[in-house]
Amino acid sequence: MQIIKVKDSVAGGKKGFEVFKQALANGAKVFGLATGSTPETTYTELRNSDLDFSQCVSLNLDEYVGLQPDNPQSYYRFMHEHLFDAKPFKHNYLPNGMAPDIVAETARYEELLSENPIDLQLLGIGRNGHIGFNEPGSPFDGKTHKVKLTQSTIDANSRFFEHEEDVPRYAISMGIGSILSAKQILMEAYGEKKADAVKAMVEGPITPDCPASALQKHPNVIVIVDEAAASKLN
Ligand code: F6R
Repeated sequence: MQIIKVKDSVAGGKKGFEVFKQALANGAKVFGLATGSTPETTYTELRNSDLDFSQCVSLNLDEYVGLQPDNPQSYYRFMHEHLFDAKPFKHNYLPNGMAPDIVAETARYEELLSENPIDLQLLGIGRNGHIGFNEPGSPFDGKTHKVKLTQSTIDANSRFFEHEEDVPRYAISMGIGSILSAKQILMEAYGEKKADAVKAMVEGPITPDCPASALQKHPNVIVIVDEAAASKLN
């Protein structure tokens, strides 16, 4: 793991942008993308850049089950607002959380991933060390699957919803195995609330108790952390 420490998430977004730019220059065509607060500064830099993704494909990590794409909290909507509307790709894939058969949808998505192997996967980390919606205990060889969200994730995500009851209870997520198939991984983490998870990811044992610790097994990982998120690292 290459650890890059920055002052704050704005500086982190600029570093994240550089990683995308370099990947494109090296011929990357398939980008794995994340939602949430963490990648916002990187997406701002990408939106405001002249980088050309028109020959590229994106695949998102996850999507809630049961939210229409035009729901303000859907990840489809998030991605359009933060990146896709300003920066056209050849195609943007997200799991379809409204699919009538969610298990068939997970298989379809895994098929898409094998047809479009990810060159660069962007990740954030949950306070409990989750990546995608892979909560503690998830298998390291997991593929795209339906997930029942834990209470800690529902609580963390409730800040985006009017009422806690509005937070979906299920999601579709790439598995840890799907994530580890990416050629390169870029993890960003900002803020003091991520400090324990960052320490467990970087310095802890490789264990399903901290899903992000699986990244220690990957040969090409860049971690961008701000001072607060890095504050517990040795
Ligand atoms: C988002 C995702 C999640 C988030 C994580 C951190 O697509 O898969 O794993 O990266 O929950 O969320 P934020 O960035 O909001 O702190």
